[in-house]
Amino acid sequence: MTRILDVDNVTLRFGGLKAVSEVNLTLEAGELVGLIGPNGAGKTSIFNLLTGVYPPSSGRITFTRDGKQINLGRKRPHAICRAGVGRTFQNIRLFKQLTALENVEIALQQNNGYSLFTAFTHLPPFARREEEIRERSMELLHRVGLADKALTRARNLPYGDQRHLEIARALATEPTLLLLDEPAAGMNPNETAELTEMIGRLRSEFGLTVLLIEHDMALVMKICERIYVLDHGVVIAEGTPDEVRNNAKVIEAYLGEDVDV
Ligand SMILES: Nc1ncnc2c1ncn2[C@@H]1O[C@H](COP(=O)(O)OP(=O)(O)OP(=O)(O)O)[C@@H](O)[C@H]1O
Ligand SMILES: [Mg+2]
Repeated sequence: MTRILDVDNVTLRFGGLKAVSEVNLTLEAGELVGLIGPNGAGKTSIFNLLTGVYPPSSGRITFTRDGKQINLGRKRPHAICRAGVGRTFQNIRLFKQLTALENVEIALQQNNGYSLFTAFTHLPPFARREEEIRERSMELLHRVGLADKALTRARNLPYGDQRHLEIARALATEPTLLLLDEPAAGMNPNETAELTEMIGRLRSEFGLTVLLIEHDMALVMKICERIYVLDHGVVIAEGTPDEVRNNAKVIEAYLGEDVDV
């Protein structure tokens, strides 16, 4: 097994609050791992640490790509994105007035360090490059089932499709590690089933390692090989879906929540 991510004793403080407290978490290449826990447990905060939104207050985060170790705690978000960590957001972040295709094109352009300067100084490659970006974007839309909606404005897409578009945008950055923050939020059961299938398929098609935050327990239990459970910033359990489901601490953490663990 090849370790792709090593979160070593990481803490994130906001004033007096420890949103993430001495967390240890590892991912092996190709794994699909769940990150669950009640509201406010610190799940999104972990994604924010992994993507450079906040540096850890203490501890170390090591990401490995092509045998090279990268200390994520010291990198800016765009550098982390380029290094190969892609993410989607709990609250959908799309350019709502632009088409699905344009949304993916922008993600591709940003990641390739492509600028208007190159556009003006290298005219023929610019045209070729535009064409390449369009083709690649269409391919990504196809992979998430949105090829026939390429020219629809993001704001006119059904909610489930907007979530798929977010995934296409994340894939455009060519990640080896994909972080999905509640991708099924707001989806109906049919959309959720489709998404579940899609996440598994994308993992093998793109050779991804996936860390998945999700409140939909059926989805998590179905597709994750391992699960970390967070409560009040602390990892209270880690294991296979069966191990986690039967863990007393996990059951207690979820008491009072409307969730079947
Ligand atoms: N920028 C911030 N400033 C201050 N406190 C924050 C900030 N971001 C998160 N927190 C706090 O950190 C804790 C963990 O929040 P986080 O968003 O990581 O939880 P979560 O597990 O993703 O919850 P949810 O399931 O509701 O999305 C919460 O108490 C939250 O209020
Ligand atoms: Mg969250």
